[in-house]
Parts: sequence; C-alpha cells; structure tokens
Amino acid sequence: MSIELPEMHHFGIVVPDLDGAMDDLSSQLGLTWAPVRHGERTVRHHGRLVTTDLRLTYSMEGPPHLELIGQARGTPWEPTGGGIHHAGFWVPDLRGAGRLLARAGMTLEATYDAEDGGLLGFAYFTDVNGFRVEILDDSRRQSFDEWLAGGPGHIAGISHTALAVPDLETAMSFYGDALGLTWARPQQRAISIRVAAGDLTTEIRFTYSRQGPPHLELIEGAAGTVWAPVSGLHHIGLWSHRLEIDAARLQHRGMSLEVAGLSRSGRQPSGFTYHRSAHGLRVELVDTASQPAFERWFAGGDLR
Ligand SMILES: [Fe+2]
Ligand SMILES: [Fe+2]
Repeated sequence: MSIELPEMHHFGIVVPDLDGAMDDLSSQLGLTWAPVRHGERTVRHHGRLVTTDLRLTYSMEGPPHLELIGQARGTPWEPTGGGIHHAGFWVPDLRGAGRLLARAGMTLEATYDAEDGGLLGFAYFTDVNGFRVEILDDSRRQSFDEWLAGGPGHIAGISHTALAVPDLETAMSFYGDALGLTWARPQQRAISIRVAAGDLTTEIRFTYSRQGPPHLELIEGAAGTVWAPVSGLHHIGLWSHRLEIDAARLQHRGMSLEVAGLSRSGRQPSGFTYHRSAHGLRVELVDTASQPAFERWFAGGDLR
C-alpha cells in the first residue's frame, strides 16, 4: 500500500559548512536564503534522545525549496557527502501520515520528543533503499511561512509614481506644461489580470515621463476597473528582482494583493502586482525583467 503525499515542499541537504554552502549556492544558482535558524533541538533518534545544536535555512525560492542543515554527528543530520538527505512534505495529520508510512513499510527514524512517545512536529521515515521522507505538521506551516517571508527582499527602489487620468492626451499636455516633462511614446495594451472577482482583460493607454527615475506614469483605463480615473495619486511603482517573492513578502507585511498580472499561459504573478496598505496606498511591483524594454522606450522606441 502507499500514501498519497501532497506536492513536495523541499529537499533537505546536510552540509559541513552552512555559511559556505549558502554562499556557493547563491553564486551558482542565484538562490537567496531565509535568516538562518539556530537552536538546540532534542529529537528521538531510533528511540534514543539526542540533543544537538542545529543551524538551518531554506531557499526563498520554491516550492520546492532547498533546505540546508549544518551537519551534526550522532544525530539524524550526519554528513551525507552532498547527496539529498530528505524530501519534505507538509501533512494535515502528522500521526495519521506516520501510521500510513509505517504500514507502507517505512521505518521511523526521528521525531521531536513528545511526552507520549508519538510523533511531534516532524518525522523522518526511511525505506530499505535509504531514501528518507520528512513529514511536517501543518499546524507549524504559518510560522514557517512567516520566517521565510522575513528573508531578504529584492525591491530595487521607486521607479515611478502614477496617475489614473480620464484622458491621456489632455493629461500629457497639462502635466508636460506644468512640470516641464516630456513623454515616451503613448502605448495601448489589452492587459490580462487576476483580481479578487476573477480574471479579466482590459484596455489601457499609458505613458511615462522620459525624465526620471522616478518617472511619472499617466494611465487611461476603463471605468469599473482598477484603472478607472481617480483624483490624486494612483500608485507608486517599485522594481522587483523577484516578483513572486517580493509580492509574498508585501502580503505578509500587511499589503494585500489587489491585482496580479497574468501571462498568456495564465501564470501569475507575471510582470507586475498591485498591493494596498490599510492606509490606502497602492504599491505596484514591476518585474525587472522588463527594465531593458522600458529603457528602450524612454530612448524613443515603443515599449515591447
Ligand atoms: Fe526538512
Ligand atoms: Fe505603474
């Protein structure tokens, strides 16, 4: 018999030098890391209690994330010589999943020390080939996600502020005169977005001041959409090197997701996101992948 595990959450690797491995993998694979967790853990390892100082981190990228754990002899985190140590899965019922794994022929190797000797927090199970599975208790998922969201962001400064105007040409002429700005060639787009009510495609016309950063963006959009004209500021825009990660961080920090750009294949967030603070400020994250296209646009071409 077998157990249906959910989508894999992470691969764990045990390394002799945690900081060195983080540096190496950052430069080799471009991975970035959650703040290192360091603490004494007591685990039941093959029925015997073991206490060890454990240092570990996860890649911000994922899932699947890459977990790095500093090696500790005499514990479940023995040096492995660089191979995969375990594959990790969150499960809604840790003890139930453990019983299924045991019934499927896997052996319990380690778990936290519960008073009743049952599974607690996480558990490692191994099979006859030495393959190790980690199951993690869903009740710890939120604190895990918050830890990950505390990692470094990739926001690279304010690129623009934006106004949503009823008529693009009128606004270009007014603000051009008043503020001494000249404009990149106006663009017209059908933009596909995901909002709370569902997915939709809507037409917008827009331009950016050639002066900047920060540039001034003018957008003319349809009534009833997020680009309906408003008085005052519509949003401030920031470049993001890792749109998915930065969007998740903003949400964890209290700026709810309002709009996510959709790719042609329906992937999101793609290109940009809008977030709102409780205070009413709208923030746009723009994927830096489009930065070269913007530079060409400011230099006189079309934005493509
Ligand atoms: Fe793990
Ligand atoms: Fe914008």
